[in-house]
Amino acid sequence: MQDAALQCLFHPFRAGFIEMPAPEATCLFLNAAVDPALDLLPRGTLCQQHFRSGYDALTRAGYQAVPVLEEEDDRADRDIVLLRAPKQLQELKGLIARGLVRLRPGGLFVVSAANDAGGSRLGELLAEAGLDVSSDSKHKARVCRARTGPALQMARLDAWRQESAMQPVMEGAYRSMPGLFSWDRIDPGSALLADHLPEGLKGDGADFGCGYGFLSRAVLERRGADVRSLACVDADARALAAARENLIGASAETTFHWADLETGSPVRGLDFVVMNPPFHLGKDRNTALGEGCIRAAASALKPFGHLYMVSNRRLPYEALLSRVFSRVETLFEGNGYKLHKAAHPNGDTKKHCVPRALGTQ
Ligand SMILES: C[S@@+](CC[C@H](N)C(=O)[O-])C[C@H]1O[C@@H](n2cnc3c(N)ncnc32)[C@H](O)[C@@H]1O
Repeated sequence: MQDAALQCLFHPFRAGFIEMPAPEATCLFLNAAVDPALDLLPRGTLCQQHFRSGYDALTRAGYQAVPVLEEEDDRADRDIVLLRAPKQLQELKGLIARGLVRLRPGGLFVVSAANDAGGSRLGELLAEAGLDVSSDSKHKARVCRARTGPALQMARLDAWRQESAMQPVMEGAYRSMPGLFSWDRIDPGSALLADHLPEGLKGDGADFGCGYGFLSRAVLERRGADVRSLACVDADARALAAARENLIGASAETTFHWADLETGSPVRGLDFVVMNPPFHLGKDRNTALGEGCIRAAASALKPFGHLYMVSNRRLPYEALLSRVFSRVETLFEGNGYKLHKAAHPNGDTKKHCVPRALGTQ
């Protein structure tokens, strides 16, 4: 699928509204993604991408990439900052603020967002930040550009940075940040799975797609007396940072893995996996992501290992579960969710086509 914001981001350069950056210009690209137009940027451009698959694609294509920006490294010395806007508003404000403070006076800020992901609010936000903005629409997205100057609203930018940073949530029970899944509340599906975890969890386990660590903590606090180790796996580096903080003082050895489960599991030999897998709902309902995680779980478990998984009732994972595990049961169905328990992975974790009627609809 084409990324509308990414296509639109480079429009002002291509259309000649702004000059191509000189090869020696210093450039930062926030929430970066690979695109042929990246070749327009100086080779030394620093790309930030917290999602593992996107980060890997950037480094494979030869770009210098980091998962997160270090707060200490916010020198105002960049000539250009580009931002591919995320959907979540507080996260977007935080990235605008982090980008603007890194620009030298008079430096160029370019930000784009798809029309259905907040494109219409971009100009307003940049004006609030104290910028004099020019904007264009292209590829079902909006791109805004502006040069920094003395009117920059530093107090507002500081507030945006703080609002988007790691912070206590749910009356201090957890630490989390905007942009993470269900960042300031407990997901009802995960809560249901936590309530149905069996008494006898033991040995070495993992939380696949751990987010800020709700399920990991539920495993260790509610059922963890015999759990020796727990591996927390997520594709989002920020989620792992939060999970790490939320598991300080855990009763078992914890490890943290920044990994794309669609390409396989970073851990093996597990006794159990708990999982609320990632999914895309809406018009393009797509179970491929969750299916990748199920395959990864099957390949990570010992022959007598168990997967405990929650899914949206409308997502048809049963066919794949029955193919890659010898025993599958539904532990609970209700409130819009299904809880699956799958045992005895049978080694059939290869990707092959699921008949449409059984797989995705
Ligand atoms: C539905 S959320 C569940 C989060 C957490 N377990 C909870 O209950 O709050 C799914 C998680 O999977 C992560 N994720 C998405 N795609 C992934 C992938 N390809 N590999 C690993 N993790 C992924 C997301 O970052 C997100 O944290």
